[in-house]
Amino acid sequence: MALVPVVVTALWAMLPAYLPNNLAVIGGGGRPIDGGRTWRGRRVLGDGKTWRGLVVGTAGGAVVALALNLLRPSVTPVVGFGVPMFPPAAVLTLPFGAMLGDAAGSFLKRRTGRDRGAPFPGVDQLDFVAGALLATAVAIPPWFLSVFTPPVLLAVVMLTPALHVGTNVLGHLLGVKNEPW
Ligand code: CTP
Ligand code: MG
Repeated sequence: MALVPVVVTALWAMLPAYLPNNLAVIGGGGRPIDGGRTWRGRRVLGDGKTWRGLVVGTAGGAVVALALNLLRPSVTPVVGFGVPMFPPAAVLTLPFGAMLGDAAGSFLKRRTGRDRGAPFPGVDQLDFVAGALLATAVAIPPWFLSVFTPPVLLAVVMLTPALHVGTNVLGHLLGVKNEPW
């Protein structure tokens, strides 16, 4: 497969998993998912993982997937190949899996002595990708395998950290995100 279709497919398929984090930054807050509970002297997840962030992020990502489905017929002739269609299960697993992966990353950060907002290079940039891909692979294996071919997966793993760092620095500069990571 040529490079452009691989990159476009990777970005298109992951957009519903990318946006939830940013939407949670803007729309999150309120009651933490762990309810303030601690485990071995540290917060289970921390104040940065809230119910509102989870709901806003998941719902927002699902809206993105539905919007991409609507745009698909007009985009396909422009790019010259078929961009992926999100089946109902993927509309949910991509954003919800991303939020779960992000929460799992926070769980790991707390277990390794990192306080809320502390950087954890690698985990910060890829936890939500791992969550989105895993949830989708488990829920709808045939669709997952048809879209996330080895070259597309490689593109996702290479492009996501750069995109993630870029949008977080932007969010920090705009004053909506505390830390630039
Ligand atoms: N957020 C939220 N609910 C979520 C995920 C994120 O409310 N489920 C919001 C929080 O305001 C959080 C911000 O988005 O502070 C940035 O998310 P992230 O960088 O993942 O959290 P951190 O505050 O850095 O905390 P952690 O160290 O646990 O990653
Ligand atoms: Mg963070």
